[in-house]
Amino acid sequence: MHLTHLACTACGQQHDAGIPQNVSPCCGKPLYPQYDLVAAARTLTKDALKTRGKSLWRYREVLPVKRDADIVTLGEGFTPLLPAPRLGAKHGLARLFIKDESQNPTQSFKARGMAAAVSMAKQFGLKKLAVPSAGNAAGAMAAYAARAGLEAHIFMPADTPKANIIECHELGAHVTLIHGLITDCGAEVAKRKAAEGWFDVSTLKEPYRVEGKKTLGYELAEQLDWTLPDVVLYPTGGGTGLVGMWKAFDEMERMGWIGKKRPRMFSVQATGCQPIVRAFQAGEKSAAEHVGAQTRASGLRVPKAIGDFIMLDILKKSGGGAVAVTDDEMIAGVREVGSAEGLFVAPEGAATYAALKHLLAAGTVRADESVVLFNTGAGVKYLECFGE
Ligand SMILES: Cc1ncc(COP(=O)(O)O)c(C=O)c1O
Ligand SMILES: [Zn+2]
Repeated sequence: MHLTHLACTACGQQHDAGIPQNVSPCCGKPLYPQYDLVAAARTLTKDALKTRGKSLWRYREVLPVKRDADIVTLGEGFTPLLPAPRLGAKHGLARLFIKDESQNPTQSFKARGMAAAVSMAKQFGLKKLAVPSAGNAAGAMAAYAARAGLEAHIFMPADTPKANIIECHELGAHVTLIHGLITDCGAEVAKRKAAEGWFDVSTLKEPYRVEGKKTLGYELAEQLDWTLPDVVLYPTGGGTGLVGMWKAFDEMERMGWIGKKRPRMFSVQATGCQPIVRAFQAGEKSAAEHVGAQTRASGLRVPKAIGDFIMLDILKKSGGGAVAVTDDEMIAGVREVGSAEGLFVAPEGAATYAALKHLLAAGTVRADESVVLFNTGAGVKYLECFGE
C-alpha cells in the first residue's frame, strides 16, 4: 500500500515499482520492495492489529498491492505458532515452538508468496504466469492463478511428489514435467517465456513473493508478544522465507516495534543438496551449485539459488549457521514430531527438528533458549516417503 520503489539487493539502485519487473536491470539480482514506513506506521499499529482478520493481509500497509480489489486470497497466513512441550521435554527445552505452515491454503508456506505475487500480477494486468517449482510452489501458484482467472504454466521435475502434480492438474494449471532438477525447469521457463508471453514468477526473480513470505517474520513477533525467539531453524531451498523474515525484522525495527536483537538464523538443508551449508562453512559470500543434487525432501532440492549471497550474509550477521541432515534423519523425524505433537509434518519441517538435535549436541543451541522450528509443508503431500 505504501510501496515506493524497488531496490537492487546487490547495489541498492532504485527501480520502478509501477511496472512488472523481474531481476534488477542493473545487476541481474533480486529486487526488494521498499515502503514509506513512516506512513505505514500511522495506521499499522500493534493496537490496530488486535481487531484485524487472521490472514497475512492484516499487515496490509507493508504489503505491495495498491487496491484491495486486486488482492487474491484464499485465507493465507496467520498460522499458529504452536508450543511443542513434549518434543521440547525430550531435550530439556522449555520453549520450543513449531510454526505450522501446513495450515495454509494448498498446505504449505508457498501460499504466502504466491498470494502476494499473483495479486501483483493481477494489478499489472498480466494474464499468463510461469514458474519452475520443486512442488509446493507449483500447487500454490496453480491455486492463486485459478482464483485470479490467470493462466498458470508450471514446470516441475518429473519425480516431484505425486500430490503436487495431481493438485496442479486439478487446479487447472498447464503442467510440464522435466527430467531434471528445478534449475532445468527454470532454464526452460527462461527459454520460452518471451515467445509465449509468460511472466516469470520464479523465487526471487520476481519481487513480490518475498513480500508474502516476510509476513512470517511479522507473525513471529506478534505471536511472541513483540519479542523474537533466540533461534530460528528454517528449511532452505531458494531461501525466500529466510530472507523475507529478515526483511520483516528490519522493517519492524524501523517502525519502532522491536529493538536490535535478532534471532540466530539457521539454514537447514539435506546432505544430498547442501550448497548453502557448504558455502557457509567455507566462509564464502556466494554458493557454488551442488552437483548431483538428491533428496526426498523435494523442497530442499535446489542446487543453486539466486538469493545465495543474501542468505549467507543473514546467517553470518545473525550469528547463526547452516546444518545438513540426512534423508533418514528427516523421515525418522516426521514420526518423532508427529507422535509427540500431533502434527504430520513435511520432511522439510522434520529436517529442522533433526538439525536442532545436532545443534544441541554441539552446544551451539542451549536448552534454555527459545527455539522456533518451521514446518513449511504437510506430510500428507509426501506419501511416497513413508511406509505403512
Ligand atoms: C515444504 C518446503 N519447505 C521448504 C522449501 C524451501 O523454501 P525456500 O525456497 O523458501 O527456501 C520448500 C520449497 O519448495 C518447500 O516446498
Ligand atoms: Zn544493482
